[in-house]
Amino acid sequence: MKLPSKNLNGYKCGLMSIVGQKIMKPLKINFKDKFSKFPNEDYAVRIVAMMNNYEIKIVKRKGESIWHSHPDTDETFIILDGKMQMNFRDKVVELNSGEMIVVPKGVEHKPSSEEGYRAILIEPAGVSNTGDIDSAFTIKKAEWI
Ligand code: NI
Repeated sequence: MKLPSKNLNGYKCGLMSIVGQKIMKPLKINFKDKFSKFPNEDYAVRIVAMMNNYEIKIVKRKGESIWHSHPDTDETFIILDGKMQMNFRDKVVELNSGEMIVVPKGVEHKPSSEEGYRAILIEPAGVSNTGDIDSAFTIKKAEWI
């Protein structure tokens, strides 16, 4: 069966819809290509795929985020390039390329990076990037790229 490749249900990624359910097509996703389409800003996050009801996002970030927690879900960061400090109230975890961390549900955290990082983010669809806090950084719903 030949599947449509774009703009189905407004999604520009390899998604198809069957009876209202979004199902990924088995298309290769190249992070370098995706990041090349990012805006030239210190902070940007975009969705590249879905796995069941989880969004796989890519993020680039330079600078300080804000303290927040996600009351309903864990949050996974997989660092592709650069360095990130994941600040917790009782410790700081340094993350480099090739390393990952799962921030547990409800635990306050604040990512920061002087030199910048690029990462994969995995969390359930629709989770706000600043969790329980509304701020200038808050992105309620990321866009697809
Ligand atoms: Ni978070």
